[in-house]
Amino acid sequence: MKRSRTGNASAILKESERIGEQLFPAPIATPHQRERKAETMRLDKKVALITGAAAGIGRETALLFAAEGAAVVVVDINDREGQETARIITAQGGQAVYVHSDVSRAADCETMVRAAERQFGALHVLFNNAGIMHQADDNALTTEEEVWDLTMAINLKGVFLGCKYGIPALKRAGGGAIINTASFVALLGAATPQIAYTASKGGVLALTRELAVVHARENIRVNALCPGPLHTELLMKFLDTEEKKQRRLVHIPMGRFGEAKEMAQAALYLASDESTYVTGSSFTVDGGITAAYVTPE
Ligand SMILES: NC(=O)c1ccc[n+]([C@@H]2O[C@H](COP(=O)([O-])OP(=O)(O)OC[C@H]3O[C@@H](n4cnc5c(N)ncnc54)[C@H](O)[C@@H]3O)[C@@H](O)[C@H]2O)c1
Repeated sequence: MKRSRTGNASAILKESERIGEQLFPAPIATPHQRERKAETMRLDKKVALITGAAAGIGRETALLFAAEGAAVVVVDINDREGQETARIITAQGGQAVYVHSDVSRAADCETMVRAAERQFGALHVLFNNAGIMHQADDNALTTEEEVWDLTMAINLKGVFLGCKYGIPALKRAGGGAIINTASFVALLGAATPQIAYTASKGGVLALTRELAVVHARENIRVNALCPGPLHTELLMKFLDTEEKKQRRLVHIPMGRFGEAKEMAQAALYLASDESTYVTGSSFTVDGGITAAYVTPE
């Protein structure tokens, strides 16, 4: 199907801005960028699969990738919101398909990769982003085994399974980029514990490094994205009082939570050909939290 990519990009970006968090001060793209031709789009002719794309980082990345020319496979278990992500993209003339897949299940991961190839002919970018932070995840003494197992199944095994079925597809496409969402808590210990979540994200970093080395000569790059504390549903449902928010904010040099859109911009860099010499990295986008010993005030 032929479509006007310049027009699509403009419309998708407008929709993205409408539904996005307004705290993010800079627009996704300048008017000049929106008028670019398809050839200069950063993901022109690429097919990207994004897990956890019904909300937060995943949705913002799906909208941005589509605006940059990618055909997007939107993966989630939240069918209503996942379909909504795909609808926003296609309503504006972009290419997207929603696939229900639970990343903790091997058969589902196989299905989502097969759907990408069947629908769009190839897979070039795999963003293993789906994750949970369980309400009952606490310290080692109080966390139940079931909470540990569920967190590991989604946050860590989900990334492994995405790669298990995604890497053969990237090879068939002649190479590509994998981005695995970890977290700043994989790099720093926190006195507000969430032991299973923290361990799962540490595992994502270790997994990412090894995959990067093993597949480096197959034209496959593998990087981890380490977001700082974000203004998304996942964290905000825990930080439901001003006191809880301040306990976190005091550690962030910038003095604010990050936005999902800011993570999408980082994912775009790691997915695009601008990062062709970047692999095995733990790419922190964290408002300076991992650099801080004391904060400005
Ligand atoms: N929000 C933060 O502060 C923060 C910080 C660091 C890292 N992260 C990580 O970023 C990623 C995205 O987080 P977010 O803030 O956008 O969260 P979010 O809760 O807004 O979105 C997560 C999405 O993943 C989906 N999901 C959950 N379980 C799934 C499964 N088994 N299979 C498929 N999809 C599933 C959810 O339905 C949801 O749409 C997660 O891996 C999270 O751990 C978040």
